[in-house]
Amino acid sequence: MKISPIQIKLSDSRKEKPNPETLVFGRSFTDHMFTADYEEGKGWHSYRIVPYAPVTLDPAAIVFHYGQTVFEGLKAYRSPDGTVRLFRPEENMKRMNLSLDRLCMPKIDEEMALHALTKLIQIEKDWIPTLNGTSLYIRPFVIANEAFLGVAPAKKYQFFIILSPVGAYYKEGIHPVKILVENEFVRAVKGGTGGAKTAGNYASGLKAQEVAGQRGYSQVLWLDGIERKYVEEVGSMNIFFKIDGEVVTPAINGSILEGITRKSILQLLDYWNIPVAERKISMDEIREAYEAGKLEEIFGTGTAAVISPVGELNWDGYKMIVNGSETGPLAKQLFDTLTNIQTGKEEDPFNWIIEL
Ligand code: COI
Repeated sequence: MKISPIQIKLSDSRKEKPNPETLVFGRSFTDHMFTADYEEGKGWHSYRIVPYAPVTLDPAAIVFHYGQTVFEGLKAYRSPDGTVRLFRPEENMKRMNLSLDRLCMPKIDEEMALHALTKLIQIEKDWIPTLNGTSLYIRPFVIANEAFLGVAPAKKYQFFIILSPVGAYYKEGIHPVKILVENEFVRAVKGGTGGAKTAGNYASGLKAQEVAGQRGYSQVLWLDGIERKYVEEVGSMNIFFKIDGEVVTPAINGSILEGITRKSILQLLDYWNIPVAERKISMDEIREAYEAGKLEEIFGTGTAAVISPVGELNWDGYKMIVNGSETGPLAKQLFDTLTNIQTGKEEDPFNWIIEL
């Protein structure tokens, strides 16, 4: 493929970098961003890296009205010798194209997007925090920016990549989170957009999350939209259960997001010869396992969440306290191995890392 040139306009000033000791998730942004435009008939063009700044959009832009937008999330790390490391970025670009297709949006050139991402990170490499538990979160996204109030796929789009130095996603960090099983609202149904990384999936989850937050829970666990019986995912992560020595996670079914961390954890478990199954799992089965003393661990996986142990699962008032509300040994081992591979403290036997 011929890589199109990227115009680079550097900022005249540099922002102050946040204190890594107090870094939260998603509140500060680097000095530059990448962007490109799309027009029907012309394709993607005008690739450029420019100073990070607000964007001007027509109030009739389709993204505001009908939510035609998709996003991705991945991370860059700096190893002890200063090398910049990206974790499986090609997987994110591939998934972004699946999401774009689901939303009737034009696909991006994955190679071009990776090239743009690499250039941007090279410019912003001093923004990658190195303290344990911190990283540079990368947010690629595409919006429909054509001004039109009819319900139809837009003819104009804009692609962005922005960067944000981050700490832990949950205030609990690696400590166990409390999760409420959602019985009233649903996130997605088969045939819907649950498998795509699109804004509407997150907006529709906010009400349940708000109620859960008021009750002291970090997130909700979504059940299937039809029978309200089978586990799907948590708002910001996929979910795993260790039951009687076997690790079980809901199978990808069209309404669950196919997490890249999820996929990596499945690979790691397999590598360690730990029995693992991707299948349907019902709340009844989880409750039975709990009552039989066989529910050993629950943890979530995600780019932002990394590995997040679950210490309590509340299903309709029935509270399951998992591993005495402590981080389980498997979640700890997975967290350590994954983050060590990501940061270059451990070998990468899977070739997940791209070094810049
Ligand atoms: C990610 O893990 O990268 C996500 O996009 C989840 C988001 C809710 C922060």
